[in-house]
Amino acid sequence: MKIHWTRVVVSISLFSLLTGVYADTVGGDRWSAAEIEQISSLSLRGLDALPPDPTNRVADDPRAVILGQRLFFDVRLSSNGRVSCATCHLPDREFQDGTPLASGVGATNRRTMPIAATAHSPFLFWDGRKDSQWSQALGPLESPVEHGGTRAQYAHVIAANYRADYERIFGILPNLENIPLSAGPVPDAAAAKSWEGLSDAQRNAVTGVYVNIGKAIAAYERRIQYRASRFDRYVDGLRQATGTEQSALRPDEVAGLRLFIGKANCTQCHNGPLLTNNEFHNTGVPAGRGLSADEGRLAGANSVLRDEFNCRSRWSDANRAQCAELEYLVTDAHTLQRAFKVPSLRNVAERAPYMHAGQLATLRQVLDHYNRAPEAPAGHSEVKPLRLSALELRQLEAFLRTLSGGTTAPPMLPSVTALNQNR
Ligand code: HEC
Ligand code: HEC
Repeated sequence: MKIHWTRVVVSISLFSLLTGVYADTVGGDRWSAAEIEQISSLSLRGLDALPPDPTNRVADDPRAVILGQRLFFDVRLSSNGRVSCATCHLPDREFQDGTPLASGVGATNRRTMPIAATAHSPFLFWDGRKDSQWSQALGPLESPVEHGGTRAQYAHVIAANYRADYERIFGILPNLENIPLSAGPVPDAAAAKSWEGLSDAQRNAVTGVYVNIGKAIAAYERRIQYRASRFDRYVDGLRQATGTEQSALRPDEVAGLRLFIGKANCTQCHNGPLLTNNEFHNTGVPAGRGLSADEGRLAGANSVLRDEFNCRSRWSDANRAQCAELEYLVTDAHTLQRAFKVPSLRNVAERAPYMHAGQLATLRQVLDHYNRAPEAPAGHSEVKPLRLSALELRQLEAFLRTLSGGTTAPPMLPSVTALNQNR
């Protein structure tokens, strides 16, 4: 009898594919070299070292990390004594809050963003209206619906509670004796009037302390990072594959990964080790119900140029040449209309709801959105209908769930003074 070897091989391969034998191994045979390279580019191992922040001279000062951590959790930095950064950015919830729209002293019109690895992000907020972590932190502190207080109030909190720690890092605190307890360029009429009544020198002294609060918080925030996920372990396996080891991913998850980098084209925007290109895109996400129109990046790009605390401002420690991001900023392109920051997809399964105003409740709804690709409420959506089957959508979702690995943040640290005494 003549054996048809080709037929035997084909039927064995078909059998293997159907029963998932190949999919259970991480042998390089199922991915081309180019695919392995593309998949590897998404691994957390490829993340660059923490980039320096020339705008913040204390960014890498361990004493500032300690002070910043305490300020991050301090509810005295609010108008009602009840709100801190951690009210919305909960450490045990990926530093976000799991609600569609954040609320502090009042209600906001956007969803709380996770903050891990934002040191790698040139622009902050859904619309990118801030260009450093420290200038970002100063936004919620004076927002009437978030912390709701004023910079003079916060300078007094430092003088009363953190003087020794502050002075070790930033030098002598200015004399605040003649500064009212509440004053700042805020919507509150009384606080704004008190602010107008101060001399330039007094305003600069208060603002200097306020800026340093932001810089200390940023030093802490820089240390909040993502942990490796099951997907990253799969990539490690792929790179060292002998073909015999257990795969860190199930066959349906591997199929989802294949869609993610291929047919579904997700890596057009969700690429690199953080699964974001750090840019702004209009993906046709529906408007938040009952919210006023949101122009996204169109408004954000213009406001970062005008921002009192941007890279070029007198409060930044950078020189102008280090502010290239602002130099080449596009502020008027049609594509900026309703474009929002591409979020990292790390830990994404742990932090529903989704999108800038929590418009979509589940990952499945997000995938249905991409599959249908509706018209944008304003501007033009960049995504096209995918026409994926129900099975493919399930595979894609299974893959997204492999990106969870948690975050790491510095442990609760003693005060700066205690740290110095231990030295
Ligand atoms: C009331 C809830 C609330 C409080 C309090 C709050 N945030 Fe946020 N945070 C948000 C919301 C909502 C957004 C997105 C807002 C937007 O895009 O307009 C955000 C965005 C951010 C971002 C941007 C992340 C990114 O990827 O661009 C960082 C960083 C951040 N917050 C840090 C802080 C810090 C530091 C504090 C304390 C000084 C703070 N937040 C206080 C709700 C809050
Ligand atoms: C053209 C760029 C682009 C493409 C392509 C793209 N995304 Fe997105 N993605 C975004 C932007 C921008 C947002 C935030 C939009 C918003 O909030 O309005 C987002 C949000 C998400 C979110 C919600 C995350 C969160 O924290 O709210 C998920 C999940 C997601 N994308 C997954 C995918 C998947 C899966 C694909 C492939 C099917 C994909 N994306 C393709 C740009 C893109």
